[in-house]
Amino acid sequence: MQIRTALPLLAALTAGVVITGCSSAPKTPKYTTEQVMEQGFKGKESPAARVGQGAGTAADFKLLAELTASLPLNAPMKGDAASWKEKSTALAQAGQQLVAGKAGALDAWKSAANCKACHSVHKPD
Ligand code: HEC
Repeated sequence: MQIRTALPLLAALTAGVVITGCSSAPKTPKYTTEQVMEQGFKGKESPAARVGQGAGTAADFKLLAELTASLPLNAPMKGDAASWKEKSTALAQAGQQLVAGKAGALDAWKSAANCKACHSVHKPD
């Protein structure tokens, strides 16, 4: 490939990486599922609790997007791998949508962050 054709391609690829941000993050999970739950979800004052009540701040969105991005990369502790992938990916995507301020992001988050639906299948006793 000639350099003149390669350069715009490279620029386009680089821009793509910047725009998609978290979705192109390295494939190594940064947080264990337990850390994600403890830092983002545990308790009535957690970022997830605030977001679920429609009172999430930009910082909450950012933290939850950062944390939940690791979930699909973690192996399920329990339950079916396909189910885990579906639930954890939906949660991670909703987190990114919140950060991006996408329409419907809060509804997407609320349905993906269904504690009981996920715990009943994937949380070890
Ligand atoms: C996509 C699946 C999923 C969703 C949604 C989810 N959790 Fe979890 N949660 C887990 C899994 C899996 C564990 C077990 C982690 C472990 O034991 O390592 C867990 C563990 C926990 C723990 C225990 C953490 C610890 O110290 O071991 C708490 C607290 C928790 N979740 C709170 C919540 C709350 C509150 C919500 C809803 C607002 C929620 N989770 C939504 C998957 C989920």
